Amino acid sequence: MKAVVFHGIGDIRLDNLPEPRIQQPTDAIVRLTASAICGTDLHMIRGTVPGMEPGTILGHEGVGIVEAVGKDVRNLRPGDRVVIPSTIACGYCAYCRAGYYAQCDVANPNGAQAGTAFFGGPKSSGPFHGLQAEFARIPFANVGPVKLPADVSDDQAILLSDIFPTGYFGAELAEIRPGNTVAVFGCGPVGQFAIASARLLGAGRIFAVDIVPDRLERAREQGAEVIHFDGEDPVEALRRLTGGIGVDRAIDAVGVDAERPHRGPAAEEAGDKIRKFEEEVKEVAPETHPSNGNWAPGDGPSQVLHWAVQGLAKAGTLAIIGVYPESARFFPVGSAMNRNLTVKMGNCNHRKYLPHLLELVQAGVVDPASLLTKQEPLPSAIDAYRAFDKRQPGWLKVELRAA
Ligand SMILES: NC(=O)c1ccc[n+]([C@@H]2O[C@H](COP(=O)([O-])OP(=O)(O)OC[C@H]3O[C@@H](n4cnc5c(N)ncnc54)[C@H](O)[C@@H]3O)[C@@H](O)[C@H]2O)c1
Ligand SMILES: [Zn+2]
Ligand SMILES: [Zn+2]
Repeated sequence: MKAVVFHGIGDIRLDNLPEPRIQQPTDAIVRLTASAICGTDLHMIRGTVPGMEPGTILGHEGVGIVEAVGKDVRNLRPGDRVVIPSTIACGYCAYCRAGYYAQCDVANPNGAQAGTAFFGGPKSSGPFHGLQAEFARIPFANVGPVKLPADVSDDQAILLSDIFPTGYFGAELAEIRPGNTVAVFGCGPVGQFAIASARLLGAGRIFAVDIVPDRLERAREQGAEVIHFDGEDPVEALRRLTGGIGVDRAIDAVGVDAERPHRGPAAEEAGDKIRKFEEEVKEVAPETHPSNGNWAPGDGPSQVLHWAVQGLAKAGTLAIIGVYPESARFFPVGSAMNRNLTVKMGNCNHRKYLPHLLELVQAGVVDPASLLTKQEPLPSAIDAYRAFDKRQPGWLKVELRAA
């Protein structure tokens, strides 16, 4: 079968591999009809989320048809159409039963303290082969996959695998109450769904910060007030537009590959921090292999954390859903502490939110497919990765379809 395979930092390829087989009684084999490329995949190829094992199939977003089930999968049968949550969880440990599927005690073969188990991630997350392939083995298939109604399309369902639940998780972590002012940093796919979710929770005003014009335009179409950080200092803009108070809630939907501003008033301030940012890049990404404008790590790893802490109102709440590697140690704890901020963060507990969000999609409350901008056949995956990595116009969210 064809699959997108990680060979090394800056080196991914479309390979032919044997099809997976059932290994455990709770496994299923799914024939993927759609998968997608995520900002998380980019961190791994840029080298800012290290620890990938060469040979691992990438991808953690998938929709497909169940081909085979182990004897302990009693809720699915071959032929069922399912959406697969990115994180893998046992469904019976205390964490799963409390809804913390991303902190399952059982699913990660590296042990209970190893952290989130997910498809197509580094060794510390399993490793499990990912979903950018024609077929995948789904561990704990009796718990994760959710059956899809016929009137929810693949284009809608693929965004329920990771991105919509993560945006919603971010809005919930940020403690958004009706009327609150909210700043979303990053207008990639996760930021767009954080904006949509902030609206669902009744946010009064939403500010969206990024640098990519067509992504800011999408945010504006969703009703957000947009801030281009090469044109103005986002902290100054957030304060000014809120009468000097700052925002009640902020969501970091960027993570470790944050860019620092290169022009405009914010660049002058960031200029003093360039050496510190360079040290941070070394700390998080000891090995990088940029080539032809691709796979370059962000040059301001802590930039969003600083802006969010400064742009928040006193006693506001920060939700960090952008991914940082374990080696990152640069959170501005002093300013956050002295401003009485609440900080919440983590990997999304996808399975907790998926059924509810699927109902919203089926009811027509949210059409996630409206944020899907590219549908490419799986064999074109490497070119699609390059375009998404460069944030080329129109490449907001890429679905990979079975050829
Ligand atoms: N917590 C979770 O469970 C979870 C799940 C999925 C994705 N993620 C993470 O969410 C983040 C976003 O994912 P994505 O797919 O949208 O990625 P993406 O790379 O497409 O989007 C990131 C966006 O941030 C913008 N950006 C860069 N520097 C910025 C800055 N200083 N201020 C504001 N915006 C800035 C970029 O221009 C880009 O549009 C990634 O870190 C990804 O790993 C987390
Ligand atoms: Zn993802
Ligand atoms: Zn569990």
